Amino acid sequence: MDCRESALLVSVLLLALDLCSAQNYVLSDDGGLGRVFDGIGGLSGGGATSRLLVSYAEPYRSQVLDFLFKPNFGASLHILKVEIGGDAQTTDGTEPSHMHYENDENYYRGYEWWLMKEAKKRNPNITLIGLPWAFPGWVGHGKNWPYDYPDVTATYVVNWILGAKQYHDLDIQYVGIWNERSFDNKYIKLLRYTLDKSGLERVKIIASDNLWEPIAFSLLLDPELSTAVDVIGAHYPGTTTITEALKTQKKLWSSEDYSTFNNEVGGGCWARILNQNYVNGQMTATISWNLVASYYEDLPFGRDGLMTAEEPWSGNYVVESPIWITAHTTQFTQPGWTYLQTVGHLAQGGSYIALTDGKGNLTVVIETMTHNHSVCIRPPLPPFNVTSQNATFQLKGSFASIKELQVWRSQFDFKTSKASFFEKLKPLKLVDGLFTLNLAEDEVYTLTTISTGSKGSYPDPPPSAPFPKVYKDDFDVRSPPFSEAPYFADQTGVFEYYINLTDPGPHVFTLRQVLTERPITWATDADQTISVIGDYYWQNLTVTCDVFMEKMNAGGVFIAARVDKGGQSIRSAKGVFFWVFADGTYKVTNDLVGETVLAEGQSGTEVYGWYTLSLTVKGQYASGSLNGYPLWKNAVVLTPKAGWAAIGTRSFELAQFDNFALVAE
Ligand SMILES: *[C@@H]1O[C@H](CO)[C@@H](O)[C@H](O)[C@H]1NC(C)=O
Ligand SMILES: *[C@@H]1O[C@H](CO)[C@@H](O)[C@H](O)[C@H]1NC(C)=O
Ligand SMILES: *[C@@H]1O[C@H](CO)[C@@H](O)[C@H](O)[C@H]1NC(C)=O
Ligand SMILES: *[C@@H]1O[C@H](CO)[C@@H](O)[C@H](O)[C@H]1NC(C)=O
Ligand SMILES: *[C@@H]1O[C@H](CO)[C@@H](O)[C@H](O)[C@H]1NC(C)=O
Ligand SMILES: *[C@@H]1O[C@H](CO)[C@@H](O)[C@H](O)[C@H]1NC(C)=O
Ligand SMILES: *[C@@H]1O[C@H](CO)[C@@H](O)[C@H](O)[C@H]1NC(C)=O
Repeated sequence: MDCRESALLVSVLLLALDLCSAQNYVLSDDGGLGRVFDGIGGLSGGGATSRLLVSYAEPYRSQVLDFLFKPNFGASLHILKVEIGGDAQTTDGTEPSHMHYENDENYYRGYEWWLMKEAKKRNPNITLIGLPWAFPGWVGHGKNWPYDYPDVTATYVVNWILGAKQYHDLDIQYVGIWNERSFDNKYIKLLRYTLDKSGLERVKIIASDNLWEPIAFSLLLDPELSTAVDVIGAHYPGTTTITEALKTQKKLWSSEDYSTFNNEVGGGCWARILNQNYVNGQMTATISWNLVASYYEDLPFGRDGLMTAEEPWSGNYVVESPIWITAHTTQFTQPGWTYLQTVGHLAQGGSYIALTDGKGNLTVVIETMTHNHSVCIRPPLPPFNVTSQNATFQLKGSFASIKELQVWRSQFDFKTSKASFFEKLKPLKLVDGLFTLNLAEDEVYTLTTISTGSKGSYPDPPPSAPFPKVYKDDFDVRSPPFSEAPYFADQTGVFEYYINLTDPGPHVFTLRQVLTERPITWATDADQTISVIGDYYWQNLTVTCDVFMEKMNAGGVFIAARVDKGGQSIRSAKGVFFWVFADGTYKVTNDLVGETVLAEGQSGTEVYGWYTLSLTVKGQYASGSLNGYPLWKNAVVLTPKAGWAAIGTRSFELAQFDNFALVAE
């Protein structure tokens, strides 16, 4: 007698189980249900992680968006969380604030508004969340701290939510406090009060986007705080929670997770945590940092997104395994479904979850990821064993009469490297609510009554190609609705399109660094502003740019080549930096801080005048010219050997750039 047949004979079930060594698992709602599911999402920002996506040409840009958001197509995400731009470096770049200055409001900066609208176009039900990482300096009255003037901070955040509605018809459903930084009970209560006073009672508060404690302890001790907060959001919880968090009776979310290189181990990490965040930690939402790897790969945490779209110049993008792992849950559930209480670990390793819409539909997701193939970058993963196994599931309660389940499978198959993702298999026929699966290692299965799932596809995008060796931008042709020029990745400061309507000359349309004050930072921003562009592996390069200083005396601007660091490490960037100052001097330095001087002298440069700077770096030598005349030459550059091109300013000061051009060898 075949194992499968015997397993179906209830009378000999125990004997059959023994023969086949299959473990039995019951899926039932007889004893009631578990927690309400809130969805799976991606995080754009924290920081500037979608920077390059906006510059893709159609149809590729829409294709990437479809793989992320379109229902029954790809990741079909339930949640989009975005950074509330705060003008400061937040991991891979800066994102602009809606209020650079106290008397300034503009809800068309950056790309998060656009992204939210594109997501909503595809899935009108998508849940939108906003969270600040940093704040403009004026919010803290110049102090690097957002809670001394909590009413100012709350109004600033609430303005962003009101602006989302007024200018983009976007309903932000959840807002957070301060990403991975301290929270303040008084501020949280004031935020709740300010939301309510502004007619935003429907907007819920997540706290505190950091560890489970101390927010769980604070909620248990302070009933007023507990009333203000709806969700405890923890970061990188390692699938577990703490008793105090459960005691609060709040929703528990992994409000930032994953953060792992998006190869197949990354896909395995994501599969394991999507199931086990609920099985082990009762978490009802999991959000990936980041949504899509659309930033220069050599910035920190390169390619830690659900898919890769980091080459707008070629149009190439890659649908990575985490997209299909997400689909295993998202395409067959919706926020508002409920987990069954019958979820757990499999006897030989791995886990299973089950959810229902409460109307008879059932979705079961099973993963058997092995330890080495599901390591996330954090936290450390204690050892465990997974071996192949047979698992028999018995449906009971409302699900006892289900006759057929759709089957979707992913096999990572690290042994043969012949992975297959999100493959639709033949539907499974059930007899007496029983089915058995032969589970191998490193697999993901979905079994579901939902029949609308599909694996979306497009023709292959263009092949991968490096950044073009010849590139220029006069900032005259702009791509609405964006405030930033393509490919420039701001690492400190904010560089925006600027129009000078009183200029009768050639510099009406420029790019302008607009911050005049250090923001309330999240990372260690540089003291200089800087935006990088191009190819990290460029050695020999000529950078040319027109520059215009707007700060008297101490003002200064630079163009640079071979910039070797960005993101959180921007302060320690080395390269070749060619500066001119408003006091009539120039300098060439080997670092962004300006300590290692390679050359210096008189330039005659002044504030409010346009100058053309040109920098050529070749092998061990660099030279520079001003308005076409050589100013310095043969400065010796031993390191770095390669890096991005860049523009920037000496301090947080206004300055403009025009007719930017690159020629790489
Ligand atoms: C949005 O949600 C409503 C109510 O749950 C549902 O009827 C509708 O099908 C959903 N729309 C999409 C596009 O998922
Ligand atoms: C399951 O959901 C579908 C819609 O996706 C619905 O038509 C059907 O009635 C639901 N119930 C069952 C038992 O399939
Ligand atoms: C897992 O990785 C460790 C470290 O690379 C290695 O020593 C070990 O043999 C691997 N285990 C399996 C089961 O592959
Ligand atoms: C995994 O299996 C190995 C070999 O059987 C055993 O030595 C080890 O203790 C197991 N580890 C765990 C965490 O069960
Ligand atoms: C699972 O069942 C199959 C028969 O369906 C049997 O060949 C196999 O040995 C079983 N595997 C395990 C790990 O028990
Ligand atoms: C605008 O252009 C005028 C005329 O060239 C110039 O005097 C002024 O400084 C410019 N202002 C800014 C902010 O660029
Ligand atoms: C850069 O220039 C140096 C000196 O001419 C040369 O040795 C080196 O090969 C060049 N590098 C590239 C990538 O072309």
